[in-house]
This record gives sequence, structure tokens and C-alpha cells, in this order.
Amino acid sequence: MADVDITLKVQRFDPSADTEPYWQKYTVKTQPGMTVLDALFEVLNHQDGTLAFRFCCRAGVCGSCAMMIAGKVRLACETQVATLLDKREIAISPLPHQKVVKDLAVDYDLFFSRLKSVKPYLVGKEPYPEKEYIQMPKERVPINEPIDCIMCGSCTSSCTMAWLDPGYLGPAALLKSYRFLVDTRDSIPDERLDLIESESGVYRCHTQFNCVESCPKKLNPTEAIQRQKIKLIKRKLFGRKRKA
Ligand code: SF4
Ligand code: FES
Repeated sequence: MADVDITLKVQRFDPSADTEPYWQKYTVKTQPGMTVLDALFEVLNHQDGTLAFRFCCRAGVCGSCAMMIAGKVRLACETQVATLLDKREIAISPLPHQKVVKDLAVDYDLFFSRLKSVKPYLVGKEPYPEKEYIQMPKERVPINEPIDCIMCGSCTSSCTMAWLDPGYLGPAALLKSYRFLVDTRDSIPDERLDLIESESGVYRCHTQFNCVESCPKKLNPTEAIQRQKIKLIKRKLFGRKRKA
């Protein structure tokens, strides 16, 4: 795939200088193995040093480089340019419905405040062990998938319910809530259910599956949300658990 020219059509917007977003085109010579993030660096380093975008790991781990690429939310560092050569030009814009800091970099404050409200950390059982908590392989199974979340925000920014209701916790935070709820080492399952039992919690999910479609790690926040609804219904029917 060497030496093919591609056109990147990048959405630009600097809130301190522009009244509205606009598109800017750049031509980039492709290289074997080039990712969309590499192509953006080609622009930044050789054509336009004002272009802003986020990245860190370049390996699909940190979640920083999520953006709209050719009509789909994807990780720029995991998207090979070679897979998009059928497009006349590759349109690149920031995550949808997010406040833009500059160009492709969006503001994650609301995303992380939603996350913080579900207590995204383990509250261990007492008495605390001298070393680590022991967890059997079978007990680990329910968290095997949710722990793969890289907090890229693709799911929440693709969720129409999160667009309509800024108070909605959204799929990423609700997946995180599930991840700790089903962790056998955690001691506050009832409190976790209280945190998501509201109109802006699990009940705001209308099972549209946009989150599943957009997740670059192929996770299923919709299923995690429905499982938490079932736990809430069971709690209503059979009462609260005693504190573990
Ligand atoms: Fe990203 Fe998937 Fe985690 Fe959502 S569930 S934040 S899309 S990795
Ligand atoms: Fe870390 Fe893309 S740069 S996920």
C-alpha cells in the first residue's frame, strides 16, 4: 500500500477563535501499516502544526484517540488507513455530541463526573487481608469482559439518551458500576444498586444498542445495564442483601 495518496477531511474548530466548525482537507502519502493516528501525525508534523487531537498509548489501551472516522466511532490508533482506501476521502471529526476543546479533542469532564458518581473502585470486605484478596477463576468470570473497558467514551458519546439527558449516567459508567457489583471482593452491592436506581440511572437506557455498536473493545454495556435492572427487580421482590 506504499505511496498511495489519501485525502483526510478533518473537522476543525477552535472555540476561542471560530464561530462554527469547518472542514479542512489534507493529502497524505500512505505507508504500509499506517494508522489514522499516524496520518494525523503526518499532518501535524509536516503540514499543519495547529491541528489538535488526543493520543497516548498508540496501542488501543488508553482510550484517548476515540473519534469519528469515516462515519463510525473508532480508535484512530487501531484503524488502519488501508481499510478505508475505498473512500474518496476519509472524514474525521470529534466524538459526537461532546463539547470540543479544539479540533478532534473533546472535553471529558462530564464523562468522568458520570463515572465518579458510581464509585468506580473496589470497596473491599473486612477484615482486610494481609496480602491480596483471593478470587477463584470461576469468580473472576463475570468481570472478565467489563474490566477490558478502556474508558474511551465512544459508547456514551454514541448514546442518544446520554445526548438528551446530561444527568444520565450513560453506558460507560453503568458498565463500570456492573464491573464492581459482580466482583466477589466488593462489599457494597446494595449501595451500588442505590446509585443506579433512578430515572437517570439504569432506567434511562432504552436498549438502542448504540453503545455496543460503537465499542472498540466489543463490550456490551447494554447487557450489563439490563443485568443490573434484573438485580434491582430481584431486590424489590426479595429485599435488600445484608452488608457482606
Ligand atoms: Fe469505550 Fe467500550 Fe468502555 Fe464504552 S464500554 S468506554 S466504548 S471501551
Ligand atoms: Fe491510546 Fe489510541 S492512543 S487508545
